[in-house]
Amino acid sequence: MKKILITGGAGFIGSHVVRLFTTKYTNSQIVNLDKLTYAGNLENLKDIETLPNYRFVKGDIVDATFINDLFQAEQFDTVVHLAAESHVDRSISNPLEFVNTNVIGTVNLLNAAKSIWGCSKDKPLPTDKRFYHVSTDEVYGTLGETGLFTEATPYDPHSPYSASKAASDHFVRAYYDTYNLPVVISNCSNNYGPNHFPEKLIPLCIHNIKNNKPLPIYGKGENVRDWLYVVDHARAIDVILNKATPGSTYNIGGHNEWTNIDVIRLLCRIMDKKLNRPDGSNEKLITFVKDRAGHDLRYAIDSTKLQNELGWKPSLQFEEGLEKTVDWYLANEEWLNRVTSGDYKNYYEAQYAKR
Ligand code: NAD
Ligand code: TYD
Repeated sequence: MKKILITGGAGFIGSHVVRLFTTKYTNSQIVNLDKLTYAGNLENLKDIETLPNYRFVKGDIVDATFINDLFQAEQFDTVVHLAAESHVDRSISNPLEFVNTNVIGTVNLLNAAKSIWGCSKDKPLPTDKRFYHVSTDEVYGTLGETGLFTEATPYDPHSPYSASKAASDHFVRAYYDTYNLPVVISNCSNNYGPNHFPEKLIPLCIHNIKNNKPLPIYGKGENVRDWLYVVDHARAIDVILNKATPGSTYNIGGHNEWTNIDVIRLLCRIMDKKLNRPDGSNEKLITFVKDRAGHDLRYAIDSTKLQNELGWKPSLQFEEGLEKTVDWYLANEEWLNRVTSGDYKNYYEAQYAKR
């Protein structure tokens, strides 16, 4: 029986990881630790929140005393660390928040794991423990017209977000080298799917199309992102957690590059049909706006290592995944309304605080 800590489990990707783990590992205890920032939404987990192997703890990874006490009390043997500030535009206006959560918060977790597992270079690396750090392909910087990010691509972050994630990755590797902490890292491309907070490109545009509002495209929409369905990311995390050797890194991505403008045109066409609007009507909402500062041109992942060594493959084509995503947002209008009105923030007080 395992005791697994998932940080950031109320967020977009974390909630899919919590769902996969609680339903698959019924003999394990899964603790979801989340601060419930604006991005944390416990309504993402309504369907699994009463499972006997699941528990939610509200807390801040930046608070070292709280984290040390939690690790001492719970004696986790596995940590899957997703908690982070994750939006590039917010990192441009408030970089320090990203340093605090993404760097200091990660180091607090590393210290707490090192302490309860008694890790040191003088002792053998504990093989029954794992610290899994979830990172991003944005640490590699930007590509030109050609080439792919591999695990050997040098780090070259450009935004405060990617710089903070790069710093946290370096700390994770340093704890492996210096203290024999059994770490693994994955760097994944852009995710999309259900429960995505509507400040990111795809859910923002789904929300705006639904409400006939402008679709803000930065610059000329020529930037390329490599999109992966969020459930496939959660599946990859599960595979890597179980099969990867300590100290290793895997890139996760679906060989699915799209310019932003092509993604939004496809989304417009899908939603013309779903909303019974005349062909071409949603495209009229596209509005080119001022470009993001330091906007990386192209991300594209080579996930050969993960596919060949651990046998993971993405399960969905993008067109199918995007249609599924639109269907989810249209079927979960209340989720979207509560997120956009801010009502989702009351869910913790109403459902959890009194427990
Ligand atoms: P998200 O912003 O949706 O969720 C982040 C979660 O972390 C939220 O629930 C938030 O409340 C929680 N959190 C933030 N600060 C915290 C703190 N100080 N203490 C405890 N909890 C805190 O993010 P996401 O998109 O789900 O990303 C999750 C992880 O995956 C991040 O580490 C991100 O860097 C990485 N990642 C994201 C993508 C993507 O496309 N979204 C791609 C690759 C990697
Ligand atoms: P985003 O979803 O913020 O993810 P990331 O910056 O981590 O890749 O943005 C995806 C792409 O879409 C990125 O190139 C920026 C662009 N974008 C827009 O054109 N308009 C928007 O309103 C947003 C939020 C993003």
